[in-house]
Amino acid sequence: MLGRLNHVAIAVPDIEAAAAIYRSTFAMGAKVSKPVPQPDHGVTTVFVELPNTKIELLEPLGDKSPIANFLKKNPSGGIHHVCYEVDDIDAACKQMVAQGATITGDGKPKIGAHGKPVIFMHPKDFNGTLIELEQA
Ligand code: CO
Repeated sequence: MLGRLNHVAIAVPDIEAAAAIYRSTFAMGAKVSKPVPQPDHGVTTVFVELPNTKIELLEPLGDKSPIANFLKKNPSGGIHHVCYEVDDIDAACKQMVAQGATITGDGKPKIGAHGKPVIFMHPKDFNGTLIELEQA
């Protein structure tokens, strides 16, 4: 069964400015992490902890960032993906591919920003939304 919404990821051109929005513009405040470079994933991340989910801010890191093209098309940033938790990522992939979904990249789960296996499903099968699955 599809589990919790783990996070919504927003690609941003300037992660410090984006983090400041969550620290200050939302005047009621939010728990905002420090920026963490993730060279293996080509992004720098900030996590905003909310009571029921997280917001993942993503800034490109390095020449081959997977979000570089997205930001070229959306220079001021935008929602990049949503991440759902699943109990068994291998079983979930198998079932979803059998239903016609397409896994991006080499089709194998990778260790994501939280140290857990993740995979991405192509947006063409999900109304234009890139889907990340994370092992709960
Ligand atoms: Co994510």
